[in-house]
Amino acid sequence: MSKIELPLEKRSWHPSPLPGQVVLVTTLSTDSEPNVAPKSWVSMVAFGPPPVLMFGCTLDHATARNATEHGAFVINVPGHDLMTNSWQCGGDATVRGMARFAACGLTPIPSMRVAPPRIKECRAHLECETAGFREWEKREVAVFGKIVAASADASVFDGDPTVRYRHLSPFFFLEDGWAAPLGAAQKLVVGNGD
Ligand SMILES: Cc1cc2nc3c(=O)[nH]c(=O)nc-3n(C[C@H](O)[C@H](O)[C@H](O)COP(=O)(O)O)c2cc1C
Repeated sequence: MSKIELPLEKRSWHPSPLPGQVVLVTTLSTDSEPNVAPKSWVSMVAFGPPPVLMFGCTLDHATARNATEHGAFVINVPGHDLMTNSWQCGGDATVRGMARFAACGLTPIPSMRVAPPRIKECRAHLECETAGFREWEKREVAVFGKIVAASADASVFDGDPTVRYRHLSPFFFLEDGWAAPLGAAQKLVVGNGD
């Protein structure tokens, strides 16, 4: 079997070996204005308690500034009905704050434990306190978050796991302009996945 070497520049990977789940990160600016932006470089880091996650962000984005300065953020999980809205949300950096929520058809609602809002139209929410960050080459930053509250639409819990993942309906950023929904969940008969 032959292997083809890939250049060390993510933008040139077609296909990208690491699709990323699209989430909408909500933050508050230092003058308490809510902001929302799509991110796809996101991952769990620790099971907990407390569970920890991280997301990667361009350093000069408002999201990075807000999450590090304000000390909290919310990872909102859109269902694939919000795919277009999610792309719109990252399309024009000059539309900010509440105007961006409105332009993308998103409604901020209070969170349970942190000041940045949840997004009503999203299906699940992980409320985080910022737990550190690591900069890369003065361009990008990995922001770590301790999850202090988690919630999901009641409808997500209907039925067995196969159906629940269908209700959650997450989708993934593949590469510029390309996205894909989650395929059918299947129960494996080996190991426990740890
Ligand atoms: C689907 C999607 C995923 C994105 N993922 C990321 C990401 O993981 N990290 C990042 O820095 N920017 C990402 N972006 C780009 C930002 O969302 C976009 O530049 C946005 O305007 C930044 O807004 P902010 O300055 O309010 O944070 C993504 C955009 C889209 C449409």
